[in-house]
Amino acid sequence: TPPELIRNFCIIAHIDHGKSTLADRMLQLTGVVEERAMRAQYLDRMDIERERGITIKSQAVRLPWAAPGRDGKTIDHVLNLIDTPGHVDFTYEVSRSLAACEGAVLLVDAAQGIEAQTLANLYLALENDLHVIPVLNKIDLPAAQPERYAEEIAHIIGGSPDDVLRVSGKTGAGVKELLDKVVAEIPPPVGDADAPARAMIFDSVYDIYRGVITYIRVIDGKITPRERIQMMSTRAIHELLEVGVISPEPIPTVGLGVGEVGYLITGVKDVRQSKVGDTITSAAKGATVPLGGYRDPRPMVYSGLYPLDGSDYPLLRDALDKLRLNDAALTYEPETSAALGFGYRCGYLGLLHMEITRDRLEREFGLDLISTTPNVVYRVTMEDTTTHVVTNPSDWPSGKIRDIVEPIVRCTIISPSEYIGTIMELCQSRRGSLGGMDYLSETRVELRYTMPLGEIIFDFFDALKSRTRGYASLDYEEIGMQEADLVKVDILLQGEAVDAFSAIVHKDSAYGYGVSMTAKLRELIPRQQFEVPIQAAVGSRVIARETIRAMRKDVLAKCYGGDITRKRKLLEKQKEGKKRMKMVGRVEVPQEAFIAALSTD
Ligand code: GTP
Repeated sequence: TPPELIRNFCIIAHIDHGKSTLADRMLQLTGVVEERAMRAQYLDRMDIERERGITIKSQAVRLPWAAPGRDGKTIDHVLNLIDTPGHVDFTYEVSRSLAACEGAVLLVDAAQGIEAQTLANLYLALENDLHVIPVLNKIDLPAAQPERYAEEIAHIIGGSPDDVLRVSGKTGAGVKELLDKVVAEIPPPVGDADAPARAMIFDSVYDIYRGVITYIRVIDGKITPRERIQMMSTRAIHELLEVGVISPEPIPTVGLGVGEVGYLITGVKDVRQSKVGDTITSAAKGATVPLGGYRDPRPMVYSGLYPLDGSDYPLLRDALDKLRLNDAALTYEPETSAALGFGYRCGYLGLLHMEITRDRLEREFGLDLISTTPNVVYRVTMEDTTTHVVTNPSDWPSGKIRDIVEPIVRCTIISPSEYIGTIMELCQSRRGSLGGMDYLSETRVELRYTMPLGEIIFDFFDALKSRTRGYASLDYEEIGMQEADLVKVDILLQGEAVDAFSAIVHKDSAYGYGVSMTAKLRELIPRQQFEVPIQAAVGSRVIARETIRAMRKDVLAKCYGGDITRKRKLLEKQKEGKKRMKMVGRVEVPQEAFIAALSTD
C-alpha cells in the first residue's frame, strides 16, 4: 500500500472509558470480523486481561476503509489501529505504541469526563507530535453529559467544543464518522522508501506455537520475508521466517513497506531478544543510525515472592522461567528468608505489574504465594564514597552513610474540587510537594505533585480512593532521583532480626512502623515456653518493644497416665504442627503468623 493511503492511529483513554468496545465496533464496521464471529473485546486475548478488564499487551489490526480522499472521491484506505496498554506501569510501552502512529483518538467517557490517565496519555501523544482527534464515548448513557465534557476537552486541547465527536461504542453511533475523520485528519506516514530498512518494534509477544511474534512499524525501506534482519541494540542477527499483517488473524505478506504496520516471526523464543523500542534493519547493507527513543526495561519495584508450601519452590522457578518468555521487564533471582524459606526476589515495572505477575503465577501455574512488602531502588553512598544499589532491605549497608537517593515521580491527580483539602493532606503526609493546580472546570481540578515513588507503592492509591469516595484518578511518571533521609528498621524476635519484616522508611516514619509491626506480631505469635521480646530497631538503637509472655505448653498433661497410643498420636500431631513452624533463633513461629503480618498492611 502506498503511504498516502495509510493511516496509523491508536485510541488513548482512561481505564474503562470504552477503548476495547470501540475497537470492537471498528473491527465490525470495517468488515474485518463478521457479526457472527464477534466476541466481546476481540483484541484482549489473555483471559486475565478480560477478567480484569484491562489491556496489557498492545496489538495492531489492519482495517480496510473506503473513505472520501482529498478530491472527494471514495478511495480504499488502510487503517492500522494500534492498541495501547492502559496503565501507568506500562508508560514506556505506551510511548512506543504512540511513536508508531501519526494520530490518536482521545476517547473520553461522556459520563465521567477527563481522568488522570486521559491527560497522561494525551501528553505522551503530544510529545510524539500526534494529531489528536477528541471523542466523547458512551453518549447512549442516560448519565452522559456531552456538552459539559466537550467544554472540558476543548479547554484542555484547544479548539471548539463542537469539534468533539460523539460516539457510542455500544450502539455504534458515530463510529463511521470517526473512521472518516481518521482518514481526513490524520497525516499519512512519511519515510524514505529507498533508504536501508528501519522498523521500530512496538510490541513483542510470546506464542507457544510460533515463538516470539514481533510487532513493527516500518519507517524507511522495506522488510521482506526470507531476508536476514538485525536488532540494532544488540547487533543480533535473525532469519526472518514470516512477515505479515493482522486483520484480525495473522496473514503472511510479501513484505512491509514505508508506513506499514505488521508482525514478523524469526524463531526466537524469548521476548528479551526482540525488545520494545528497538530498531530492526537488514543484516546486509543495513541502516547505521537506529531510531530514537529506545530504552531497556528497568524494574522500579522489588518484592520477595515465596511459595506457601516450601515444596513448590521448583514449580515457582519453572513458572517464572515461563513467564519471562513473555515479559521482558520481569526480573528475578533466588532469595532465602529465615521466615519464609526459599523464594525469589522479583523486580517489576510497578505495582500493577507485580499484581498481574502474582495473579498469573497463581492462576496459570496453580501456585499459592506470599509476597513481601515491596520496595523501590535506593542508591546509598558511604563516607568512603563506595556506592550500593539497594533493591532489598537485607542489602542495606552497615557503616557510615554519606547520602541516600530515592526515585521520585510526578503525579497527576484529578478529582472533584471538594476533595482538594483531603488530597493535599494525604500527599503531604507522603512527603509530596505541590507542583501546581488547575481547574478543568468549575467543579473538577488537576493537582500535580512530586513525590517519592516509595510512598506511592504501599497503599497510596487505596488511600486516595477512599478519601475521595472513588472519584479521584491518579497517574504518575518517574522523573529522577532525590536525596532522602531514610533508615532501615529491623524487627527482632528475641534479638534475632526477621528478614521479611525489615523495611526502609523515612526517618520520621520509623517509629510508627516499629510500633505497628511489633504490636501486630505480638498478636500473631503464640506464647512460647519462655518470654520473647519483640523489638524494632534502627541499627543498634531499639525504637519500640513488645513482649510475648511465657506459657508452658504441656500436651501430655491431658493424657491421664496409661493410654500410650493416645500419647503417641498427640506427639505425632505436635510434630505435624511443627513442620509448618519456622524457627527464628529459639522462637517457633507458625508460618501463618508471618503471612498474616505481611498481608494485613
Ligand atoms: P481498558 O481496556 O481497561 O482500558 O478498558 P476499556 O477502555 O477498553 O473499556 P471497555 O471497552 O472494556 O469498556 C468499559 C465498560 O464500559 C464496559 O462495561 C463496556 O461495556 C462499557 N462501555 C463501553 N462503551 C460503551 C458505550 O458506548 N456505552 C455504554 N453504555 N457502555 C459502554
